[in-house]
Amino acid sequence: MSYDLVIIGGGPGGYNCAIRAGQLGLKTAIIESRGKLGGTCLNVGCIPSKALLHASEYYEAAAKTFPSMGVKIEGLSLDHAAFMKQKDDAVEGLTKGVEFLMKKNKVDYVKGFGRIAGKGRVEVESADGAKQTLETKNIVIATGSVVTDLPNVEIDEERIVSSTGALALKQVPKRLVVVGAGVIGLELGSVWRRVGAEVTVVEFLDRITPTVDGEISSAFQRILKKQGMKFELGHKVTGVENARNGLLVSIEPAKGGAARTLEADVVLVAIGRKPFTTNLGLETVGVRFDQRGFIETDHLKTSVDGIYAIGDCTHGPMLAHKAEEEGIAAAQLVAGQWAHVNYDVIPNVIYTKPEVAGVGKTEEELKAEGREYKVGKFQFVANSRARTNHETDGMVKVLEDAATKRVVGVHMVGAGVGEMIGEICVAMEFGAAAEDIARTCHAHPTMSEAIREAAKGVDGWVMQA
Ligand code: FAD
Ligand code: NAI
Repeated sequence: MSYDLVIIGGGPGGYNCAIRAGQLGLKTAIIESRGKLGGTCLNVGCIPSKALLHASEYYEAAAKTFPSMGVKIEGLSLDHAAFMKQKDDAVEGLTKGVEFLMKKNKVDYVKGFGRIAGKGRVEVESADGAKQTLETKNIVIATGSVVTDLPNVEIDEERIVSSTGALALKQVPKRLVVVGAGVIGLELGSVWRRVGAEVTVVEFLDRITPTVDGEISSAFQRILKKQGMKFELGHKVTGVENARNGLLVSIEPAKGGAARTLEADVVLVAIGRKPFTTNLGLETVGVRFDQRGFIETDHLKTSVDGIYAIGDCTHGPMLAHKAEEEGIAAAQLVAGQWAHVNYDVIPNVIYTKPEVAGVGKTEEELKAEGREYKVGKFQFVANSRARTNHETDGMVKVLEDAATKRVVGVHMVGAGVGEMIGEICVAMEFGAAAEDIARTCHAHPTMSEAIREAAKGVDGWVMQA
């Protein structure tokens, strides 16, 4: 078979690249080894985690918030099997949907493990060992990422789990120790805390969520603590031992000091992910990658003509929508069209309750760059919808470059901010000043009015507080 484009990896990077390539009339094939399209995101990432977050949020609200609003439920309990099934149903439906989209866009879906076997050739080995070779003018590498291991701790996906095992626990653990206060640790830690686990998060640094704006991150941690999550900041896990009544987790201060032991039924290792570029045959054509395994690119092009890399296997945030953006751009490049990814406007969301959302520079980054900036803030406690909904935790912070008068960053923690960040992305793509947002009519009563108020704050005219 001879193709215009062969994509290795069927995650959000690969499948969106395939759809766009199909739309642009390129003869395209996509190779995927896991037996299902959708990659980490649909199978063991974004989608199953959000399904459990959504259901557990309702469960906790039913237990703790409904009574204060006059809604009484007697005999509330968790049906674990149904809790898991609704997650599996979401995954099943969406992965099938992606397969349908491949057919719709005339993309050949080739099941098996892809390996570059020289210029313009990709060898595919299927699960039964059969091999075939695809000839192609262009290759997009979209092989994603895998879990980073913790030295001395062996993941068995039953009691010592990565995110994959934490999405499929057979019962609610009584005591869950999470290693790493990043996105996965806090999202999945929240899921299991809400349905009854006692959760302790051990984090190497002195703060949680290191890439989030510092003020938002501190506010977020206070909220999580209030919800009952415990933190051991500035600590590292040095080992996990099996004991009769569970697991013994050894921790010690990151800067040195006395070791302690935490008891757990399940340990979740969530200390980051690393690019997956093993056995890809990159050496057969000379594609360069760095010491950590990330494929080096310049505007998505690798060091070899006609070979591109997108998503988690290359540099940048490990996010599904970043992979998607790059997938679209790569297809356009192959088709000889305009292609651009604006890395300054890639939002990030942590889907806890309340959510955390941000886009652009954090205050710490602006300071480090020595840029002059203005800041406007607004607390949700002064927003009428937040008060009506009894969801007053959190705040909005708008950062504007003092010289260019452009919004360069917005950071929020609060109910539903993951949906609200889209407004900011559009504003930033259009080069908005804070004043543009401040003078845009926002519906009342909505949480988004807090964005408008924070934007007013940049020029010193907050009205509602
Ligand atoms: P992947 O999705 O990893 O897909 C790569 C695919 O390539 C895999 O299916 C793999 O099997 C296949 N593959 C690899 N090598 C080969 C080969 N040689 N031949 C054939 N196939 C191969 N991001 C968000 O934006 N929002 C979220 O809410 C979010 N939640 C997450 C929750 C969890 C628990 C995890 C683990 C991740 C989450 N992410 C989230 C991150 C997101 O899943 C990734 O950023 C995204 O999936 C990256 O897409 P990708 O296409 O680059 O790679
Ligand atoms: P992460 O990079 O978000 O967080 C890892 C945390 O572990 C950091 O705070 C780090 O300081 C800490 N850490 C590292 N080594 C440690 C050690 N030895 N002991 C204790 N703490 C240690 O990584 P995470 O949570 O595993 O997520 C991986 C990727 O998946 C992220 O890059 C994220 O972009 C993506 N993801 C995105 C989601 C979203 O967009 N909502 C949800 C889940 C994952």
